[in-house]
Amino acid sequence: MGGTSEHKIVVLVGPPGSGKGTQAKAVCETWGIPQISTGDMLREAKRNKTLDPKWLAMMDAGQLVPDEAVISLIDNRIDAEDCKPGFLLDGFPRTVPQAEALAGLLSRRGRQVDVVVQVDVPREDLLVRLVHRRTDKKTGKIYHLVYSPPPADAELEHRADDMPDTVGKRLDAYEAMTAALLPYYEGKGLLRRIDGVGKPDEVTARLVAAVRG
Ligand code: AP5
Repeated sequence: MGGTSEHKIVVLVGPPGSGKGTQAKAVCETWGIPQISTGDMLREAKRNKTLDPKWLAMMDAGQLVPDEAVISLIDNRIDAEDCKPGFLLDGFPRTVPQAEALAGLLSRRGRQVDVVVQVDVPREDLLVRLVHRRTDKKTGKIYHLVYSPPPADAELEHRADDMPDTVGKRLDAYEAMTAALLPYYEGKGLLRRIDGVGKPDEVTARLVAAVRG
């Protein structure tokens, strides 16, 4: 394994709403490594109107975008200076072809994934988390209308793919497409599982312990 516990290449895997973004923001700030979220990168491209309309339609419908789209985003991102000490991948890879492509991209740079953490949350909790999620457009902070209410001055955004009809489709897509991903990483001895239910701070403590090993 390369680097200190805070300087690793960490992959966070979990269904939509399992708290990947919330947890990634908490640990990356402490560890001083960047959070690389393919979902955030795609949404930024959407805001900048640079996202291929076909991919935009797929995202809004709750489907995964093609592997090559996200692989090229990662290929371009990981050479940045801030990735030198390590980085945390949030929502990538999601399929075995993406995981194999990542291994290839890293090995060409003399690097490798150090640890993969799977965040488990029951489906009924995920539905409640997602339909009440709101994000502050100004700060990128993630809120929940009930569990983690936003301040009065937040500029709230309700993600197009968080509408009740789409949320179920995203959970189905996650289950179908990651069914082979978790055994892939388990076979490589990299997979650790944590319970994603509980207060966000409690989940952070489990994540930190899982990454430290
Ligand atoms: P992406 O943005 O990656 O979305 P996702 O995986 O569906 O995950 P979410 O962002 O919905 O949830 P999260 O786990 O980050 O939860 P959060 O912390 O926000 O992807 C979006 C789309 O982009 C995909 O559908 C696809 O189209 C495309 N895409 C992205 N990557 C791709 C890839 N690799 N391949 C192909 N397509 C790709 O928390 C959720 C809510 O729960 C919040 O309200 C939060 O406040 C609350 N919460 C968090 N923790 C807790 C807790 N402990 N207790 C109670 N509530 C909590």
